Amino acid sequence: MDRVRTGIPGFDELIEGGFPKTSNVLLTGLPGTGKTIFALEYLYNGAMNGENGIYVTLDESFEMIKEQAMQFGWDFDKLEAENKIAFISIRLGRTKLDIFDQIRDVRDRIDAKRLVFDNLATFSVNLDLFTIPVGYAGSIASTVEMTAKGIESGGNLLADKGDKIYYTGDMEKRLIYLIVEHMSRLGTTNLVLTYGNPDVNQLTIDGVSEFACDGIVELYNQLIGAKHVRTITVLKMRNTNQNQYINDLEIGKNGLVVKPVEKVYG
Ligand SMILES: Nc1ncnc2c1ncn2[C@@H]1O[C@H](COP(=O)(O)OP(=O)(O)OP(=O)(O)O)[C@@H](O)[C@H]1O
Ligand SMILES: [Mg+2]
Repeated sequence: MDRVRTGIPGFDELIEGGFPKTSNVLLTGLPGTGKTIFALEYLYNGAMNGENGIYVTLDESFEMIKEQAMQFGWDFDKLEAENKIAFISIRLGRTKLDIFDQIRDVRDRIDAKRLVFDNLATFSVNLDLFTIPVGYAGSIASTVEMTAKGIESGGNLLADKGDKIYYTGDMEKRLIYLIVEHMSRLGTTNLVLTYGNPDVNQLTIDGVSEFACDGIVELYNQLIGAKHVRTITVLKMRNTNQNQYINDLEIGKNGLVVKPVEKVYG
């Protein structure tokens, strides 16, 4: 099994050396738990070791993201100039957007091996703004699209039982599956950021991406006594004998540091 190392100190050893190559790994956690920093470190370490990466952002401007990276000495302006990193910023004001066209173009341009999608929860609450081709490049992608309302062709909603398309079910959940499927077909190793609803013990807002993705890493920042304590756990990693503990996590001056719990208490 080929592994893609995040290079985050202490993390890769939790999952037998890294993410399974070309997998989709979900990184979930509440605001401020370190998802964006984790994603930046994953891309930075990749780019410094010959694996170029793409950062797709729906939440923050990439200027802000680059500034956050600079806090840890990661110069994304330089990497961008060297075509080792590319940013794709998706503006929610736009409608009828096929983001995968853009992602594929950029992937080919910089020969990207890693992708970060920040974040799927923002996407799922704004689904009505997007269209996702039902087919793939070169097939029916240009004419038949899926939107939050249904399957469309040339802007017209198709009947549930068209010639080739049979659809009944939850359109929004189906869209999320389709997005994850499109990501899988990129051939990159993908880190998909999201958040859930702890009140109902749900890992993601959409309720399906945790099943569709190959791995799940969860970040926490919990109040214990008078202090917030950061931890990280691996909830799922296909084909991997994963670490079963909740491990300490620190944000140091060079980025994240995972302290595998066996080493602390074992
Ligand atoms: N230079 C730094 N040193 C130490 N901690 C930092 C530093 N910069 C940011 N942080 C911490 O990291 C947090 C932000 O992390 P990050 O942006 O990765 O969170 P996130 O999970 O992506 O949040 P959101 O869901 O809101 O996007 C800040 O709230 C702060 O606690
Ligand atoms: Mg973030």
